[in-house]
Amino acid sequence: MRTARLDLRPWSDEDAPAFHRIWGDPRVVFWGPAADVAASLAMIQRTRARCAGRPAPVGWHALVERTTGELVGNVVLQPAPFAPGDLELGWHLRHDRWGHGYATEAAAAVAAQAFATLGVGHLVCAILPSNARSQAVARRLGFAVTAHDVPHGGLPHDVWTLPAPARSRPPGAAPRAPAAAPEDDARP
Ligand SMILES: CC(C)(COP(=O)(O)OP(=O)(O)OC[C@H]1O[C@@H](n2cnc3c(N)ncnc32)[C@H](O)[C@@H]1OP(=O)(O)O)[C@@H](O)C(=O)NCCC(=O)NCCS
Repeated sequence: MRTARLDLRPWSDEDAPAFHRIWGDPRVVFWGPAADVAASLAMIQRTRARCAGRPAPVGWHALVERTTGELVGNVVLQPAPFAPGDLELGWHLRHDRWGHGYATEAAAAVAAQAFATLGVGHLVCAILPSNARSQAVARRLGFAVTAHDVPHGGLPHDVWTLPAPARSRPPGAAPRAPAAAPEDDARP
């Protein structure tokens, strides 16, 4: 898959050092970074096994910055552990590539392909209420909050939902209504 500035491809075992610059950084994986390159390699292999046999674009996608050839991020489409039956879209960028629009650009391409080819009515993601940057990505993609206080990794997350564009929605599938408009959310 290709976007204006990025190539998306599956992670390989040889990418473990580059993956670890993302997955081993506590500023990025603040919920529990990988301890070393070996742990990052194990993560690549676990996620590959989790998505094996599922149709593209399900998987963990390495984001290659075309101008440098460097691996600068990750976009995930996988079964959502917090919403059985749904697919989760997720994004992680190397810290020195925050603020370039790469997460939104890559996730939009994966979402578009998922809606065009998988026949799903919506995608979901789980975001901590404190994760403003991730919320901004979700909002730019068209996600809206549909549930609060959903346990994920031991912490209460907001679940956000992105309805399929009307033209690719399966027959009879209605988009989910947002739980509340953001301005109605009384929590800090
Ligand atoms: C969440 C995360 C991926 C967001 O990264 P990000 O760089 O803020 O998001 P985007 O790639 O969409 O970039 C948007 C920013 O790039 C800026 N930008 C610069 N050039 C741009 C361009 N050519 N096109 C679009 N946006 C551009 C935008 O203005 C915006 O900046 P702002 O935050 O100052 O408004 C990143 O913070 C991260 O990896 N966090 C840790 C992991 C994480 O929390 N993942 C989600 C778990 S739920």
